[in-house]
Amino acid sequence: MNLKPETIALIEAAIPKYPEKQSAVMPLLHAIQKDIGFLSNEAAEWVANKLGIEPINVLSVITFYPFFRQHKIGKRHIRVCRTLACAMAGASKVCDKMLSEFDAELNGVSPDGEVTVEFAECLASCGSAPVMLVDDELYENLDSAKATDICNKIKAEAKNA
Ligand code: FES
Repeated sequence: MNLKPETIALIEAAIPKYPEKQSAVMPLLHAIQKDIGFLSNEAAEWVANKLGIEPINVLSVITFYPFFRQHKIGKRHIRVCRTLACAMAGASKVCDKMLSEFDAELNGVSPDGEVTVEFAECLASCGSAPVMLVDDELYENLDSAKATDICNKIKAEAKNA
């Protein structure tokens, strides 16, 4: 595993905070995902070895929590809520708009590498449905026009990066 020195430092600092080192699995996974973008089988084995547990125990955590991912994604991560309130308020149209603006397929990386669009389960903002996350930023009360504005913002930020 080729982790940044600051990731290694964060991992080394996290482990002693837990009475049993295997309890540090979540912060280690978050740190590695933040560093390399996703959690490979190699990452699961590395964490297991670091914590003295079996790789299957790490994989079971990775596959249980939807915010952990096992594949590469685009530079920007778009998650459109598809649970009941958002579904009834037009989430699928919003998702279709995001996909068409970036010529992307659901769960794939757009051809320009800029985005991955996925569905997510309830993002705890049902009262302002439909909603989506772009990385860690929540957008509420969406419709096609707002989705287009957000796409234009993402494209402008990509040009200026
Ligand atoms: S159903 Fe979408 S935020 Fe709860």
